[in-house]
Amino acid sequence: MTSPVLHDARPDSPRVFIETYGCQMNTYDSSAIGGILIRNGYTRTDVLADADIVLLNTCSVRELAEHKIFSRIGELRSLRRHDQIRAEIIGVCGCMAERLAGALAKGTGRADLVAGVDQYDRLPVMLDELIEKKPRRAPVATGHLDHMHYVAPPEAYPTNNSHLVTIHKGCDYRCTYCIVPETRGPQREKTPEAIIAEIEGIVGAGGAEVTLLGQNVTAYKSPELDFAGLLRRVAEIDGLDRIRFLTGHPCDMDEPLIQAIADLETVCPWLHIPAQSGSNRVLKRMKRFYTSETYLDLVATARRMIPDVTFSGDFIVGFPGETRDDFLRTLELVREVRYDQTFNFKYSARPGTPAARLEDDVSLEEKKARLAELIALQDDVWTELAADEIGRTRWVAVEGKARRPEGAVKARTLNNRKVLLKDCDAVTGDVIEVRITGCESTTFIGILV
Ligand code: 5AD
Ligand code: SF4
Repeated sequence: MTSPVLHDARPDSPRVFIETYGCQMNTYDSSAIGGILIRNGYTRTDVLADADIVLLNTCSVRELAEHKIFSRIGELRSLRRHDQIRAEIIGVCGCMAERLAGALAKGTGRADLVAGVDQYDRLPVMLDELIEKKPRRAPVATGHLDHMHYVAPPEAYPTNNSHLVTIHKGCDYRCTYCIVPETRGPQREKTPEAIIAEIEGIVGAGGAEVTLLGQNVTAYKSPELDFAGLLRRVAEIDGLDRIRFLTGHPCDMDEPLIQAIADLETVCPWLHIPAQSGSNRVLKRMKRFYTSETYLDLVATARRMIPDVTFSGDFIVGFPGETRDDFLRTLELVREVRYDQTFNFKYSARPGTPAARLEDDVSLEEKKARLAELIALQDDVWTELAADEIGRTRWVAVEGKARRPEGAVKARTLNNRKVLLKDCDAVTGDVIEVRITGCESTTFIGILV
Protein backbone atom coordinates (compact mmCIF):
# COMPACT_ATOMS: atom_id res chain seq x y z
CA MET A 1 0.00 0.00 0.00
CA THR A 2 1.44 3.39 -0.88
CA SER A 3 0.54 6.46 1.13
CA PRO A 4 0.53 9.88 -0.46
CA VAL A 5 3.25 12.17 0.85
CA LEU A 6 1.19 14.85 2.51
CA HIS A 7 4.00 16.67 4.31
CA ASP A 8 7.76 16.48 4.14
CA ALA A 9 9.05 13.92 6.58
CA ARG A 10 11.26 15.51 9.22
CA PRO A 11 14.99 14.76 8.97
CA ASP A 12 14.90 12.23 11.80
CA SER A 13 11.50 10.97 10.66
CA PRO A 14 10.68 7.96 12.84
CA ARG A 15 9.51 4.94 10.87
CA VAL A 16 6.23 3.37 11.92
CA PHE A 17 5.14 -0.21 11.25
CA ILE A 18 1.43 -0.90 11.80
CA GLU A 19 0.21 -4.48 12.26
CA THR A 20 -3.56 -4.84 11.88
CA TYR A 21 -5.81 -7.44 13.51
CA GLY A 22 -9.59 -7.90 13.47
CA CYS A 23 -12.15 -6.47 11.12
CA GLN A 24 -12.04 -4.05 8.19
CA MET A 25 -12.83 -1.13 10.49
CA ASN A 26 -9.35 -1.71 11.88
CA THR A 27 -7.84 -1.88 8.38
CA TYR A 28 -9.39 1.53 7.69
CA ASP A 29 -8.23 2.86 11.07
CA SER A 30 -4.67 1.71 10.39
CA SER A 31 -4.62 3.75 7.20
CA ALA A 32 -6.11 6.69 9.14
CA ILE A 33 -3.36 6.33 11.77
CA GLY A 34 -0.79 6.16 8.96
CA GLY A 35 -2.21 9.38 7.48
CA ILE A 36 -2.21 11.20 10.83
CA LEU A 37 1.40 10.21 11.51
CA ILE A 38 2.63 11.02 7.99
CA ARG A 39 1.03 14.47 8.25
CA ASN A 40 3.07 14.96 11.42
CA GLY A 41 6.42 14.06 9.99
CA TYR A 42 6.52 10.32 10.59
CA THR A 43 7.17 7.77 7.85
CA ARG A 44 5.32 4.49 7.36
CA THR A 45 7.33 1.35 6.68
CA ASP A 46 6.24 -2.15 5.63
CA VAL A 47 9.42 -3.69 7.07
CA LEU A 48 9.21 -4.62 10.73
CA ALA A 49 12.99 -4.73 11.22
CA ASP A 50 13.33 -1.13 9.97
CA ALA A 51 10.68 0.33 12.26
CA ASP A 52 11.38 2.71 15.15
CA ILE A 53 7.81 2.33 16.29
CA VAL A 54 5.55 -0.73 16.05
CA LEU A 55 1.81 -0.21 16.54
CA LEU A 56 -0.51 -3.19 16.95
CA ASN A 57 -4.08 -2.33 15.96
CA THR A 58 -6.00 -4.90 17.93
CA CYS A 59 -9.31 -6.78 18.21
CA SER A 60 -11.29 -7.82 21.31
CA VAL A 61 -14.16 -9.65 19.69
CA ARG A 62 -13.14 -13.07 21.02
CA GLU A 63 -10.84 -14.14 23.83
CA LEU A 64 -8.44 -15.84 21.44
CA ALA A 65 -7.89 -12.58 19.52
CA GLU A 66 -6.74 -10.94 22.76
CA HIS A 67 -4.48 -13.86 23.73
CA LYS A 68 -2.77 -13.54 20.37
CA ILE A 69 -1.93 -9.90 21.02
CA PHE A 70 -0.45 -10.55 24.47
CA SER A 71 1.81 -13.20 22.92
CA ARG A 72 2.69 -10.89 20.05
CA ILE A 73 3.76 -8.13 22.46
CA GLY A 74 5.92 -10.68 24.30
CA GLU A 75 7.43 -11.85 21.04
CA LEU A 76 8.22 -8.29 19.88
CA ARG A 77 9.79 -7.44 23.23
CA SER A 78 11.95 -10.53 22.99
CA LEU A 79 13.01 -9.64 19.42
CA ARG A 80 13.94 -6.19 20.69
CA ARG A 81 15.97 -7.61 23.60
CA HIS A 82 17.89 -9.75 21.16
CA ASP A 83 18.47 -6.79 18.80
CA GLN A 84 16.50 -8.43 16.03
CA ILE A 85 14.25 -5.42 15.73
CA ARG A 86 15.19 -1.84 16.55
CA ALA A 87 11.77 -0.50 17.59
CA GLU A 88 12.01 1.47 20.82
CA ILE A 89 8.26 1.83 21.02
CA ILE A 90 5.79 -1.05 20.86
CA GLY A 91 2.33 0.50 21.11
CA VAL A 92 -1.18 -0.92 21.23
CA CYS A 93 -4.16 0.73 19.51
CA GLY A 94 -7.68 -0.48 18.73
CA CYS A 95 -10.34 -2.37 20.65
CA MET A 96 -8.02 -4.03 23.17
CA ALA A 97 -6.40 -0.71 24.03
CA GLU A 98 -9.84 0.53 24.96
CA ARG A 99 -10.82 -2.53 26.98
CA LEU A 100 -7.58 -3.55 28.65
CA ALA A 101 -5.57 -0.33 28.94
CA GLY A 102 -4.61 -1.06 32.56
CA ALA A 103 -3.30 -4.57 31.89
CA LEU A 104 -1.47 -3.45 28.76
CA ALA A 105 0.27 -0.49 30.38
CA LYS A 106 1.50 -2.42 33.42
CA GLY A 107 3.30 -5.65 34.11
CA THR A 108 6.26 -7.38 32.56
CA GLY A 109 4.81 -7.96 29.12
CA ARG A 110 3.66 -4.39 28.85
CA ALA A 111 3.20 -2.10 25.88
CA ASP A 112 5.06 1.24 25.68
CA LEU A 113 1.96 3.17 24.65
CA VAL A 114 -1.80 2.55 24.67
CA ALA A 115 -4.21 4.51 22.45
CA GLY A 116 -7.90 3.65 22.19
CA VAL A 117 -10.05 3.90 19.08
CA ASP A 118 -11.01 7.59 19.53
CA GLN A 119 -7.52 8.78 20.41
CA TYR A 120 -5.58 8.52 17.16
CA ASP A 121 -5.37 12.29 16.66
CA ARG A 122 -3.29 12.38 19.85
CA LEU A 123 -0.77 9.80 18.65
CA PRO A 124 1.78 12.29 17.21
CA VAL A 125 1.96 14.21 20.52
CA MET A 126 2.08 10.99 22.57
CA LEU A 127 4.85 9.58 20.39
CA ASP A 128 6.84 12.84 20.37
CA GLU A 129 6.74 12.91 24.17
CA LEU A 130 7.71 9.28 24.44
CA ILE A 131 10.68 9.78 22.13
CA GLU A 132 11.86 12.96 23.87
CA LYS A 133 11.17 12.28 27.53
CA LYS A 134 11.27 8.49 27.73
CA PRO A 135 8.86 8.38 30.70
CA ARG A 136 8.85 5.30 32.92
CA ARG A 137 5.11 4.89 32.69
CA ALA A 138 3.48 4.00 29.39
CA PRO A 139 1.25 6.87 28.21
CA VAL A 140 -2.40 5.83 27.98
CA ALA A 141 -5.24 7.56 26.12
CA THR A 142 -8.70 5.99 26.08
CA GLY A 143 -12.37 6.99 26.19
CA HIS A 144 -14.93 7.89 23.58
CA LEU A 145 -15.55 11.26 21.97
CA ASP A 146 -19.01 12.41 20.99
CA HIS A 147 -18.20 12.71 17.29
CA MET A 148 -16.48 10.93 14.45
CA HIS A 149 -13.27 12.83 14.03
CA TYR A 150 -10.85 11.50 11.47
CA VAL A 151 -10.75 10.75 7.80
CA ALA A 152 -8.37 8.28 6.23
CA PRO A 153 -6.67 9.82 3.22
CA PRO A 154 -7.33 8.11 -0.09
CA GLU A 155 -4.61 5.60 -0.74
CA ALA A 156 -3.61 3.67 -3.84
CA TYR A 157 -4.15 -0.05 -3.38
CA PRO A 158 -2.08 -1.86 -5.95
CA THR A 159 -3.57 -5.27 -5.21
CA ASN A 160 -7.19 -4.53 -4.44
CA ASN A 161 -9.25 -1.85 -6.03
CA SER A 162 -11.94 -1.62 -3.36
CA HIS A 163 -11.30 1.36 -1.10
CA LEU A 164 -12.61 1.18 2.42
CA VAL A 165 -14.61 4.17 3.66
CA THR A 166 -15.82 4.01 7.25
CA ILE A 167 -19.08 5.95 7.49
CA HIS A 168 -19.68 5.67 11.21
CA LYS A 169 -18.11 4.46 14.41
CA GLY A 170 -19.46 2.38 17.23
CA CYS A 171 -22.76 0.62 17.70
CA ASP A 172 -26.08 1.29 19.45
CA TYR A 173 -27.37 -2.25 19.24
CA ARG A 174 -26.79 -4.22 22.39
CA CYS A 175 -26.36 -7.82 21.21
CA THR A 176 -25.79 -9.59 24.49
CA TYR A 177 -22.58 -11.40 23.41
CA CYS A 178 -20.83 -8.40 21.90
CA ILE A 179 -18.01 -6.31 23.33
CA VAL A 180 -18.03 -3.77 20.49
CA PRO A 181 -20.37 -1.18 22.09
CA GLU A 182 -17.85 -1.04 24.94
CA THR A 183 -14.69 -0.95 22.82
CA ARG A 184 -15.90 1.26 19.99
CA GLY A 185 -18.51 3.28 21.86
CA PRO A 186 -21.91 4.53 20.74
CA GLN A 187 -22.77 5.00 17.10
CA ARG A 188 -21.41 8.29 15.74
CA GLU A 189 -21.84 9.27 12.09
CA LYS A 190 -19.49 10.86 9.65
CA THR A 191 -21.44 13.61 7.84
CA PRO A 192 -22.67 12.88 4.31
CA GLU A 193 -20.48 15.80 3.10
CA ALA A 194 -17.36 14.25 4.65
CA ILE A 195 -18.21 10.82 3.17
CA ILE A 196 -18.81 12.30 -0.29
CA ALA A 197 -15.60 14.36 -0.12
CA GLU A 198 -13.61 11.28 0.91
CA ILE A 199 -15.03 9.21 -1.95
CA GLU A 200 -14.47 12.03 -4.43
CA GLY A 201 -10.85 12.05 -3.27
CA ILE A 202 -10.63 8.31 -3.94
CA VAL A 203 -12.16 8.69 -7.40
CA GLY A 204 -9.85 11.63 -8.08
CA ALA A 205 -6.89 9.39 -7.21
CA GLY A 206 -8.07 6.79 -9.75
CA GLY A 207 -10.31 4.57 -7.59
CA ALA A 208 -13.54 3.21 -9.04
CA GLU A 209 -14.88 1.10 -6.17
CA VAL A 210 -15.60 1.74 -2.50
CA THR A 211 -16.76 -0.42 0.38
CA LEU A 212 -18.79 1.60 2.89
CA LEU A 213 -17.93 0.31 6.33
CA GLY A 214 -19.44 0.35 9.77
CA GLN A 215 -20.44 -1.93 12.60
CA ASN A 216 -24.00 -1.64 11.24
CA VAL A 217 -23.83 0.54 8.14
CA THR A 218 -27.51 -0.05 7.50
CA ALA A 219 -28.26 1.91 10.73
CA TYR A 220 -26.54 5.04 9.32
CA LYS A 221 -28.54 8.11 10.25
CA SER A 222 -27.48 11.71 9.74
CA PRO A 223 -30.05 14.53 10.20
CA GLU A 224 -30.67 14.54 6.42
CA LEU A 225 -30.06 10.98 5.27
CA ASP A 226 -30.59 7.38 6.30
CA PHE A 227 -28.50 4.62 4.71
CA ALA A 228 -30.75 4.26 1.64
CA GLY A 229 -30.49 8.04 1.11
CA LEU A 230 -26.74 7.93 1.56
CA LEU A 231 -26.45 5.14 -1.03
CA ARG A 232 -28.47 7.21 -3.49
CA ARG A 233 -26.24 10.22 -2.84
CA VAL A 234 -22.98 8.24 -3.15
CA ALA A 235 -24.23 6.63 -6.37
CA GLU A 236 -24.36 10.10 -7.96
CA ILE A 237 -20.58 10.52 -7.72
CA ASP A 238 -19.14 10.69 -11.22
CA GLY A 239 -16.55 8.05 -11.97
CA LEU A 240 -17.53 5.74 -9.12
CA ASP A 241 -18.43 2.38 -10.69
CA ARG A 242 -19.07 0.05 -7.76
CA ILE A 243 -20.35 0.47 -4.22
CA ARG A 244 -20.25 -2.34 -1.67
CA PHE A 245 -21.09 -2.14 2.02
CA LEU A 246 -20.82 -4.10 5.25
CA THR A 247 -22.06 -5.03 7.78
CA GLY A 248 -25.85 -4.95 7.61
CA HIS A 249 -28.21 -5.65 10.51
CA PRO A 250 -31.30 -7.63 9.47
CA CYS A 251 -33.54 -5.23 11.43
CA ASP A 252 -32.49 -2.22 9.32
CA MET A 253 -32.92 -3.92 5.96
CA ASP A 254 -36.34 -2.51 5.14
CA GLU A 255 -37.96 -2.36 1.69
CA PRO A 256 -36.88 1.23 0.90
CA LEU A 257 -33.29 0.15 1.44
CA ILE A 258 -33.66 -3.02 -0.64
CA GLN A 259 -35.38 -0.88 -3.30
CA ALA A 260 -32.43 1.54 -3.32
CA ILE A 261 -29.99 -1.36 -3.76
CA ALA A 262 -32.17 -2.73 -6.58
CA ASP A 263 -32.50 0.68 -8.27
CA LEU A 264 -28.88 1.74 -8.16
CA GLU A 265 -26.80 0.11 -10.85
CA THR A 266 -23.52 0.84 -9.12
CA VAL A 267 -24.54 -0.78 -5.81
CA CYS A 268 -23.29 -4.37 -5.97
CA PRO A 269 -25.86 -7.14 -5.39
CA TRP A 270 -24.23 -8.68 -2.35
CA LEU A 271 -25.60 -8.54 1.19
CA HIS A 272 -23.58 -9.43 4.28
CA ILE A 273 -26.31 -9.81 6.88
CA PRO A 274 -25.22 -11.80 9.95
CA ALA A 275 -28.00 -14.06 11.28
CA GLN A 276 -25.92 -15.38 14.25
CA SER A 277 -28.42 -18.20 14.90
CA GLY A 278 -31.46 -19.86 13.35
CA SER A 279 -33.18 -20.49 16.69
CA ASN A 280 -35.71 -17.89 17.82
CA ARG A 281 -35.05 -18.81 21.43
CA VAL A 282 -31.32 -18.10 21.03
CA LEU A 283 -31.93 -14.97 18.93
CA LYS A 284 -34.08 -13.62 21.74
CA ARG A 285 -31.35 -14.28 24.31
CA MET A 286 -28.87 -12.60 21.97
CA LYS A 287 -31.24 -9.57 21.69
CA ARG A 288 -31.15 -9.61 17.91
CA PHE A 289 -34.77 -8.43 17.54
CA TYR A 290 -35.72 -10.68 14.58
CA THR A 291 -36.81 -14.27 14.14
CA SER A 292 -35.63 -16.87 11.66
CA GLU A 293 -38.98 -16.35 9.87
CA THR A 294 -38.53 -12.58 9.46
CA TYR A 295 -34.91 -13.14 8.44
CA LEU A 296 -36.00 -15.58 5.74
CA ASP A 297 -38.66 -13.09 4.57
CA LEU A 298 -35.94 -10.50 4.20
CA VAL A 299 -33.81 -12.88 2.14
CA ALA A 300 -36.82 -13.75 -0.06
CA THR A 301 -37.64 -10.05 -0.60
CA ALA A 302 -34.03 -9.28 -1.51
CA ARG A 303 -33.95 -12.25 -3.93
CA ARG A 304 -37.17 -11.05 -5.56
CA MET A 305 -36.08 -7.42 -5.90
CA ILE A 306 -32.33 -7.59 -6.57
CA PRO A 307 -31.27 -9.67 -9.59
CA ASP A 308 -28.33 -12.04 -8.95
CA VAL A 309 -28.10 -11.07 -5.28
CA THR A 310 -25.78 -13.18 -3.11
CA PHE A 311 -25.62 -13.43 0.66
CA SER A 312 -22.99 -13.92 3.30
CA GLY A 313 -23.41 -14.02 7.05
CA ASP A 314 -21.93 -14.64 10.49
CA PHE A 315 -22.93 -17.36 12.94
CA ILE A 316 -22.11 -18.06 16.56
CA VAL A 317 -22.37 -21.64 17.79
CA GLY A 318 -22.58 -22.68 21.42
CA PHE A 319 -24.21 -19.53 22.79
CA PRO A 320 -25.16 -20.13 26.46
CA GLY A 321 -28.22 -22.37 26.60
CA GLU A 322 -28.02 -23.41 22.91
CA THR A 323 -29.43 -26.94 22.72
CA ARG A 324 -28.88 -29.45 19.94
CA ASP A 325 -32.35 -28.55 18.72
CA ASP A 326 -31.49 -24.83 18.62
CA PHE A 327 -28.37 -25.67 16.65
CA LEU A 328 -30.37 -27.76 14.15
CA ARG A 329 -32.42 -24.61 13.44
CA THR A 330 -29.19 -22.81 12.53
CA LEU A 331 -28.35 -25.60 10.09
CA GLU A 332 -31.87 -25.32 8.63
CA LEU A 333 -31.46 -21.59 8.13
CA VAL A 334 -28.11 -22.04 6.38
CA ARG A 335 -29.61 -24.70 4.13
CA GLU A 336 -32.55 -22.47 3.31
CA VAL A 337 -30.71 -19.20 2.66
CA ARG A 338 -27.93 -20.78 0.58
CA TYR A 339 -25.21 -18.31 1.53
CA ASP A 340 -22.14 -17.90 -0.64
CA GLN A 341 -20.07 -17.70 2.52
CA THR A 342 -20.59 -17.89 6.25
CA PHE A 343 -18.15 -16.79 8.94
CA ASN A 344 -18.64 -19.16 11.83
CA PHE A 345 -17.47 -18.69 15.40
CA LYS A 346 -17.52 -20.55 18.67
CA TYR A 347 -19.16 -18.41 21.34
CA SER A 348 -16.56 -16.65 23.48
CA ALA A 349 -17.72 -15.02 26.73
CA ARG A 350 -16.64 -11.38 26.84
CA PRO A 351 -16.32 -9.95 30.33
CA GLY A 352 -18.90 -7.29 31.12
CA THR A 353 -21.35 -8.27 28.36
CA PRO A 354 -24.86 -9.40 29.41
CA ALA A 355 -24.28 -12.91 28.00
CA ALA A 356 -21.18 -13.33 30.16
CA ARG A 357 -23.54 -13.51 33.14
CA LEU A 358 -25.29 -16.54 31.63
CA GLU A 359 -23.92 -19.98 32.36
CA ASP A 360 -21.62 -20.97 29.47
CA ASP A 361 -23.09 -24.48 29.48
CA VAL A 362 -22.12 -25.78 26.04
CA SER A 363 -18.83 -27.63 26.44
CA LEU A 364 -15.84 -26.71 24.30
CA GLU A 365 -16.00 -30.16 22.62
CA GLU A 366 -19.63 -29.59 21.73
CA LYS A 367 -18.89 -26.08 20.43
CA LYS A 368 -16.09 -27.47 18.26
CA ALA A 369 -18.32 -30.27 16.96
CA ARG A 370 -21.14 -27.83 16.09
CA LEU A 371 -18.69 -25.50 14.38
CA ALA A 372 -17.34 -28.38 12.26
CA GLU A 373 -20.87 -29.47 11.35
CA LEU A 374 -21.84 -25.94 10.33
CA ILE A 375 -18.70 -25.52 8.22
CA ALA A 376 -19.30 -28.88 6.51
CA LEU A 377 -22.89 -27.92 5.67
CA GLN A 378 -21.81 -24.56 4.27
CA ASP A 379 -19.20 -26.35 2.13
CA ASP A 380 -21.99 -28.49 0.65
CA VAL A 381 -24.18 -25.43 0.05
CA TRP A 382 -21.31 -23.69 -1.73
CA THR A 383 -20.49 -26.75 -3.85
CA GLU A 384 -24.07 -26.75 -5.12
CA LEU A 385 -24.14 -23.00 -5.78
CA ALA A 386 -20.78 -23.16 -7.54
CA ALA A 387 -21.85 -26.03 -9.82
CA ASP A 388 -24.76 -23.90 -10.99
CA GLU A 389 -22.37 -21.14 -12.02
CA ILE A 390 -20.19 -23.18 -14.39
CA GLY A 391 -20.68 -22.16 -18.02
CA ARG A 392 -22.25 -18.76 -17.22
CA THR A 393 -20.76 -15.46 -18.35
CA ARG A 394 -20.19 -12.72 -15.78
CA TRP A 395 -18.75 -9.22 -15.59
CA VAL A 396 -15.79 -9.03 -13.25
CA ALA A 397 -13.59 -6.23 -11.92
CA VAL A 398 -9.88 -7.09 -11.93
CA GLU A 399 -8.24 -6.65 -8.53
CA GLY A 400 -4.60 -7.36 -9.36
CA LYS A 401 -2.08 -10.09 -10.03
CA ALA A 402 -2.73 -13.44 -8.37
CA ARG A 403 0.01 -14.89 -6.21
CA ARG A 404 -0.25 -18.16 -8.14
CA PRO A 405 -0.02 -19.27 -10.91
CA GLU A 406 2.37 -16.98 -12.77
CA GLY A 407 0.50 -14.75 -15.25
CA ALA A 408 -2.90 -15.08 -13.54
CA VAL A 409 -5.03 -12.20 -12.29
CA LYS A 410 -7.70 -12.17 -9.61
CA ALA A 411 -11.05 -10.57 -10.13
CA ARG A 412 -14.44 -10.29 -8.46
CA THR A 413 -17.96 -10.51 -9.84
CA LEU A 414 -20.39 -7.73 -9.01
CA ASN A 415 -22.05 -10.09 -6.52
CA ASN A 416 -18.74 -10.63 -4.75
CA ARG A 417 -17.54 -13.97 -6.07
CA LYS A 418 -13.80 -14.46 -6.57
CA VAL A 419 -12.63 -15.41 -10.06
CA LEU A 420 -9.10 -16.40 -11.12
CA LEU A 421 -8.14 -15.70 -14.73
CA LYS A 422 -5.11 -17.67 -15.87
CA ASP A 423 -2.75 -16.28 -18.53
CA CYS A 424 -4.55 -12.98 -18.57
CA ASP A 425 -3.05 -9.56 -19.20
CA ALA A 426 -5.93 -7.50 -17.82
CA VAL A 427 -4.84 -4.96 -15.20
CA THR A 428 -6.25 -3.77 -11.88
CA GLY A 429 -9.44 -1.82 -12.41
CA ASP A 430 -10.35 -3.40 -15.76
CA VAL A 431 -13.94 -4.58 -15.98
CA ILE A 432 -14.22 -7.54 -18.34
CA GLU A 433 -16.68 -10.27 -19.31
CA VAL A 434 -15.60 -13.82 -18.51
CA ARG A 435 -16.98 -17.32 -18.81
CA ILE A 436 -16.86 -19.41 -15.63
CA THR A 437 -15.19 -22.71 -16.44
CA GLY A 438 -14.53 -24.24 -13.04
CA CYS A 439 -14.21 -23.73 -9.32
CA GLU A 440 -11.34 -24.44 -6.92
CA SER A 441 -12.40 -24.15 -3.29
CA THR A 442 -14.12 -20.74 -3.07
CA THR A 443 -12.56 -19.28 -6.22
CA PHE A 444 -14.01 -19.67 -9.69
CA ILE A 445 -11.79 -20.15 -12.72
CA GLY A 446 -12.73 -18.01 -15.70
CA ILE A 447 -11.69 -17.21 -19.26
CA LEU A 448 -12.18 -14.02 -21.25
CA VAL A 449 -15.12 -14.15 -23.64
N1 5AD B 1 -18.18 -14.81 20.56
C1 5AD B 1 -18.10 -15.34 19.33
N2 5AD B 1 -18.31 -14.64 18.22
C2 5AD B 1 -18.61 -13.33 18.34
N3 5AD B 1 -18.89 -12.39 17.42
C3 5AD B 1 -19.11 -11.22 18.05
N4 5AD B 1 -19.00 -11.40 19.39
C4 5AD B 1 -18.71 -12.71 19.59
C5 5AD B 1 -18.48 -13.51 20.74
N5 5AD B 1 -18.57 -13.00 21.96
C6 5AD B 1 -18.96 -12.65 15.98
C7 5AD B 1 -20.35 -12.32 15.43
C8 5AD B 1 -20.08 -11.06 14.67
C9 5AD B 1 -18.67 -11.28 14.19
C10 5AD B 1 -17.96 -10.05 13.77
O1 5AD B 1 -18.03 -11.85 15.31
O2 5AD B 1 -20.76 -13.35 14.57
O3 5AD B 1 -21.01 -10.87 13.60
FE1 SF4 C 1 -12.73 -6.81 16.56
FE2 SF4 C 1 -15.19 -5.88 16.73
FE3 SF4 C 1 -13.14 -4.33 17.33
FE4 SF4 C 1 -13.59 -5.04 14.79
S1 SF4 C 1 -14.90 -3.78 16.10
S2 SF4 C 1 -11.63 -5.01 15.80
S3 SF4 C 1 -14.34 -7.15 15.10
S4 SF4 C 1 -13.81 -6.13 18.41
